[in-house]
Amino acid sequence: MSGFKLVGIAGSFNRPSKTLALVRHVADRASFRYGFTSKTYDLHDLGPSLGHALWRKDLDEQAGRVVDEIVRADALIIGSPTYKGSYPGLFKHLIDLIDPQELRGKPIIITATGGGDRHALMVEHQLRPLFGFFMAHTLPTAVYASDRDFANYAVSSEALSNRISEVIGELAAFFPEASPVIAAAE
Ligand SMILES: Cc1cc2nc3c(=O)[nH]c(=O)nc-3n(C[C@H](O)[C@H](O)[C@H](O)COP(=O)(O)O)c2cc1C
Repeated sequence: MSGFKLVGIAGSFNRPSKTLALVRHVADRASFRYGFTSKTYDLHDLGPSLGHALWRKDLDEQAGRVVDEIVRADALIIGSPTYKGSYPGLFKHLIDLIDPQELRGKPIIITATGGGDRHALMVEHQLRPLFGFFMAHTLPTAVYASDRDFANYAVSSEALSNRISEVIGELAAFFPEASPVIAAAE
């Protein structure tokens, strides 16, 4: 174990969820490669207080704990379903409860799922600027997956898997002391 903690957040409240499956897949592979510990959450895990909270202090204990884990993480994996060409409002509301200083300089892997390829650039046009506001380090490779990249809510496409390998490799620049455990298997 490297001592670093990775937190995955899927901005979906649908279960089963391709977005959650994608975030878990990326988190598992990154953890395996670098010896990170990781936890992944979706919007269900935050519970109903999220929708009612104007400020972080309004969240119940469970939701507050997840937000604390997000801001304390050494790296984040963000995944969002595409709704009308962008991220869902409830996901944005979660991000709205975070102080900009708390994500400053944090490495973030950005991923999204959508029904087809039409909105594949939502990772570049929506997610990257969102975390740019927080002055986070979004990794250069963004991952977008459409319905046909999954089989039974599991990542099944080789092209997607290769793209995930690329972004996991990019994490190495932020964790030089967490040397890849099995780089050859990635
Ligand atoms: C309200 C709503 C709006 C959507 N809008 C889009 C869209 O604009 N573009 C797209 O490619 N897919 C769109 N989709 C499809 C979802 O993005 C896609 O099925 C996604 O993988 C769902 O993720 P999930 O399994 O985590 O819920 C939409 C789905 C819903 C429910």
